[in-house]
Order: sequence, then structure tokens, then C-alpha cells
Amino acid sequence: MKLFIYHTPELTPPDPLPDCAVVIDVLRATSTIATALKVGAEAVQTFSSLEELIEAGKQWPTEKRLLAGERGGAKVEGCDLGNSPLDCTPELMADKRLFLTTTNGTRALQRVKLANSVITAAMINRRAAVQYLLEKQPETVWLVGSGWEGGYSLEDTVCAGAIADLLVQTENVTVGNDEVIAAIALYQQWQDNLLELFEKASHGQRLLRLNGSEDLKYCATLDSLDILPIQKEPSVLVKW
Ligand code: MLT
Repeated sequence: MKLFIYHTPELTPPDPLPDCAVVIDVLRATSTIATALKVGAEAVQTFSSLEELIEAGKQWPTEKRLLAGERGGAKVEGCDLGNSPLDCTPELMADKRLFLTTTNGTRALQRVKLANSVITAAMINRRAAVQYLLEKQPETVWLVGSGWEGGYSLEDTVCAGAIADLLVQTENVTVGNDEVIAAIALYQQWQDNLLELFEKASHGQRLLRLNGSEDLKYCATLDSLDILPIQKEPSVLVKW
């Protein structure tokens, strides 16, 4: 298995696409996707634009869908939900399709949606993502961070490092780029203080200003959810 890390969608090469792309947006899109599927959502369909989301939502029975929109960390007016994983309760999500657009995470998914397989990972389901890779043995794997508007983000890189760290302990992994070594070092430095790292991160600080401290705590709990979101058709994620 040859492993590459790209910090943002912009830094991710357009081709040739890998056998498996792992999209990471710890704060908070991939934490929300994992949680929604865990509590019973039928699927999560992602959009980079709000207009496309609204149009697609109209084609779906109202009682079977929820519209979730986030920009700049805040809920988009007119949507049922923002992007907090803590809003994903079984009562709300059961058997519904979550239509989701976020500032960066859903753009990262768009970038690699044509790869052979696409899964999503966050701290909360890191082990489930690694188990999938160990079972499927894809030859090339890209860990794709979402970053923030084209820039690097600590929380996505530390999650990529957490995945790479566990993989290299169990598998004969070939390091594809220097980012892998740097991300593992970041994870090893912070593995016992993930919440503190998230509170230092620029997007963590943005969420704290928006009263998101409970979201940060939840998103920092390593391996707490046994669920793997996998793309079943471009932009539609279901439980593996
Ligand atoms: C994003 O896509 O940028 C995020 O998930 C933002 C957030 O809701 O915290």
C-alpha cells in the first residue's frame, strides 16, 4: 500500500486518481457524516453549492430528507440544520437522507468523487477507516484534508497522521510523500491532547467563538464510533 497525504483539495492532484481516497474534515463535516449514518440516516448526499442542494432536496420527499448547510462555521438560513454532529440524533435522522453542504469538506469530497473507492474519516471513526484499508488493500491511498478555504488545517492533518500511524504499525506501508512523515510526527506529539490542539487550531477557535466547545470535545474523541461512511455513487455516502 502506497500512502499519500494532501492537506487541501487544492493541493490534491486531479489525476491519476487513487484506488482509495479518504476524505477528512474533522471540524466538522466528516464527523457529522459518520454520526448521521451511525444514528440511522439512510444516506448523506453532499454538495459544494447551496443552490444544487436546494434543487436536489426538492426532488426528494419532504418527510424523508433534512437539509444541512454551513458557511463560515454557522448554519445557513433556510436549512433545517447546520453542521454540528451533536444535532444528529436518532429521532431526527432515522431513515432520512441528509443533504449536506459545508465550506470545505463537501468540496474535498467533490475533488476525489471519481476515485475507485471513497471513504470518509474523522478522529471519531479513525479505526474503522484503517480497518477498511487493511481489509481492502488498495494499492494507492490518498488521505485528503479539507483545510480551510485553500489553507492547511491542523485538525485534518493530525487525523491523517493518526490514520497513517495506525496503518504503519500493522501494514507494510510505502510512504508516498513527505506529508505522511510530518503528519505522523504531529499526531505522535499531540495524541494525548487532541482537544487542546483543536482549541489552538484556527477553525477550532472560530467554532469556539460560535459556542462550539461541545462539538470540539466530541470531534476529539478518538475511535469512539464504529462506523465507516463509503461512497455508493458520486457524492452519496452510506454505511459500509
Ligand atoms: C467545513 O466544511 O469547512 C466544515 O465542516 C466547517 C464546519 O462546519 O465546522
